[in-house]
Amino acid sequence: LSKRPRAAEHVAPEQGPGAAPALADVLRVAAVAWQMFRTGRALDRAISEALSRGEDGVLPRMAPAVKDVAYTAARRLALIEAIIGRLTDRPPSAALRALLAVSIGQLLAQRHGAHTVVDQAVRAAQSSRGGAAGAHGFVNAVLRNVLRHRAELEQELNQQDSVRYNAPPWWIDRLRAAYPAEWRTILDRGNEPPPLVLRVNTAAIRVAEYLERLGAQGVAATRVGPQAVWLHDPVPVTRIEGFAEGVVSVQDAGAQLAAQWLGVAAGQRVLDACAAPGGKTGQLAEMAPLQIDAVDVDRERCARIEQNLARLGSHRAASVHVRVADLADPQAWTAGRRYDRILLDAPCTASGIVRRHPDIPWLRRPADVAQLATQQRRLLQALWPLLRPTGRLLYIVCSLFPEEGAGQIDGFLRRHPDARLIALPGQPTGTLQLLPTAARAGHWSAGLPTLHDGFFLALVEKRPDEEKPD
Ligand SMILES: C[S@@+](CC[C@H](N)C(=O)[O-])C[C@H]1O[C@@H](n2cnc3c(N)ncnc32)[C@H](O)[C@@H]1O
Repeated sequence: LSKRPRAAEHVAPEQGPGAAPALADVLRVAAVAWQMFRTGRALDRAISEALSRGEDGVLPRMAPAVKDVAYTAARRLALIEAIIGRLTDRPPSAALRALLAVSIGQLLAQRHGAHTVVDQAVRAAQSSRGGAAGAHGFVNAVLRNVLRHRAELEQELNQQDSVRYNAPPWWIDRLRAAYPAEWRTILDRGNEPPPLVLRVNTAAIRVAEYLERLGAQGVAATRVGPQAVWLHDPVPVTRIEGFAEGVVSVQDAGAQLAAQWLGVAAGQRVLDACAAPGGKTGQLAEMAPLQIDAVDVDRERCARIEQNLARLGSHRAASVHVRVADLADPQAWTAGRRYDRILLDAPCTASGIVRRHPDIPWLRRPADVAQLATQQRRLLQALWPLLRPTGRLLYIVCSLFPEEGAGQIDGFLRRHPDARLIALPGQPTGTLQLLPTAARAGHWSAGLPTLHDGFFLALVEKRPDEEKPD
């Protein structure tokens, strides 16, 4: 295990293929991605598009450094954009703003010497093809001003909640209304680096044994859930012990609860609804000899379910059938099939996983919450008839907004008298809202995981045919 390489401050073209890319190149590509992101593209997608544009000097191996630079800026987006507003008389072009944004992100993060960042940003402007070309003098002046006034700018701008917590005002208002005591902590968590948490396939290896394997290699790790291990220092998946052989998978400990709490038994027919990219499919497949239908509407993402399953190899106990289909229209694919268990991992705002995707609050619009809640309601409505009497459905969303969680399930129970909540294992109630916890979490020995993102979970059972609701 070793840490991922950072962008080098300088690199000569003749250096070998493993050499770190020049920071100037990384800033230039990250700026292209940033510009796309600020017009509404998800940051990961924007980064892959920027990398695939085939510009001079762009190499696939730049991806981690570009991602690091873009994500670093996203975690301070509100402050960075407020600084740019303060230090420029007229709004710069979108391309120039983007280069300034990713460069200021590096200055604020203090990963490289300040003058190196300025120098490399100027070089990036010089080698840009778009609107930043020819503006290297301007880039130099703005960045030097940032260095000169950084402390007072930060202090003053941080008075605004939007800057302090790095989220749009409407997002903050919703969290404040739903969590009057915790909203500040929740928002702070969103700007922390995401912890790398693994799911250990306990059918293949005991968690204690896996931790011993890590310990023997000097890898710092803590058990944070029944099957969950937190690696203190994030590394690319290719360097994770046992990942390639399918002994461990990357999955947040809160997300792991869904399959664990579904309560599956050998021989059952299980619908993994909204399955892609297959994190929970893989987990279910490890658990017991089940017949799993893993369904998702997104063909490209379905291919990733197959890849995930292939990696698990012989560590799979279940047979899995992956289908591309719209779950809101079950007649199109079910052929009258009924399931013993349904796991619905519904599309949502993803407000519980902002530290993994700091672009989320900036991509969402207030109306998205109601729109996604409507999609979730339709999916619950369409899938409920597919559950056989006495069967169980586990609903999960990685959201903190009550409309997608408790409110969604309350409405569902009102509309479906043949549904009743079942206490979640080890919990007093049938629903649970998990708020993200800090990556300083302690060792797990029982109960809920100690380190997790934000999720809402609910477990619903269908009454037997003959049983009348109260
Ligand atoms: C939260 S992600 C699922 C994550 C997945 N369960 C895992 O553990 O890796 C939500 C998924 O819902 C899918 N989805 C959204 N609407 C759908 C629909 N109407 N029918 C099927 N899948 C849908 C999306 O394509 C997306 O892959």
